[in-house]
Amino acid sequence: MAQTLENPVEGVPAAPEYAIEIEGMRKAYGRTVAVRNLSMHVPRGSVYGFVGPNGAGKTTTIRTLATLQKPDAGTVRVAGMDVRKNAGDVRDRVGYMPDFFGVYESLTVSEYLDFYGASHRIPVPRRRQLCGELLELVDLTDKRSESVEALSRGMKQRLGLARCLVHDPDVLLLDEPASGMDPRARIELREILRELCKLDKTILISSHILPELSEMCTHIGVIRAGEMIAEGSVDAVIGALTSGARLRIRVLSAQDTAAMVTLLEADPLCENVVADGDRSVIALYRGGDDELAALLVQAVSTGVQLTGFGVEGNTLEDVFLQITELSEVRE
Ligand SMILES: Nc1ncnc2c1ncn2[C@@H]1O[C@H](COP(=O)(O)OP(=O)(O)OP(=O)(O)O)[C@@H](O)[C@H]1O
Ligand SMILES: [Mg+2]
Repeated sequence: MAQTLENPVEGVPAAPEYAIEIEGMRKAYGRTVAVRNLSMHVPRGSVYGFVGPNGAGKTTTIRTLATLQKPDAGTVRVAGMDVRKNAGDVRDRVGYMPDFFGVYESLTVSEYLDFYGASHRIPVPRRRQLCGELLELVDLTDKRSESVEALSRGMKQRLGLARCLVHDPDVLLLDEPASGMDPRARIELREILRELCKLDKTILISSHILPELSEMCTHIGVIRAGEMIAEGSVDAVIGALTSGARLRIRVLSAQDTAAMVTLLEADPLCENVVADGDRSVIALYRGGDDELAALLVQAVSTGVQLTGFGVEGNTLEDVFLQITELSEVRE
């Protein structure tokens, strides 16, 4: 349920605490389950990094938030409104920048923005002014009379960002906006996002590059195989990711694998327990050496036939990789 501010003005509905709120979302394409039981909580005014490896379900989630496709199950709310029941209102409040977008290449840069302004029924004089402001913001003023076709990929990305701001949305959904941008353009993107934050916008930005996101985000959500596996402030998520280590246990048979998964799932120090093939189990381990020794004794006394037991690397990158690479191991 959307939470409300404590002291709303009488008669005026309180703004929801979360600009985006998803509970139990599922979306399948035929037999491929792209998103399963996903939850997501994006605080109002945050820059939320949505990170996960290829195929994890980021674009599927973002397209659902943009009302371009319906969830099969679950609740999906943007600015407190349900994407199924209030799709039109959600669309007015959301600016969506797709990962790949066609541009009308015969148009000039300013005609392109003007076209989107017209499609949002913005009056002509305001449109002209807005076009100038937006081109300034994304540093494309010099290119205003050039054909869109002549822009580099990074410039097209910036134009795409300007386009999704035309109707002054409260929530921005940016799917891999930094891809194709050079390091300087990425720094500029960060600056633009900061400016937009000052205007009290909420920004969801997807990427599969954690360090890049951690520099520009206040919050992070990590998606793996269609499920949110870690979510919160950047510090909290990075803290959580770095405090653990990867525990890998090798066993003799598929039966041992199943027994080990059950054992680890019952252990509060283990998270993200996954069978990696039928003779290996991986988990994120947050305990110390004493508890680890006790876990080994417990496994042996349960009768699991072990062939290997140990923790692996725990640098930020290692831990991030260990979490995301498990997406390839789908149940
Ligand atoms: N239109 C579609 N039809 C069938 N399957 C799809 C479709 N779109 C996505 N999928 C599948 O759904 C899963 C999630 O895909 P999605 O594009 O949401 O992932 P992603 O996290 O955005 O990945 P990437 O980092 O590569 O952009 C993948 O297994 C993908 O193959
Ligand atoms: Mg994608």
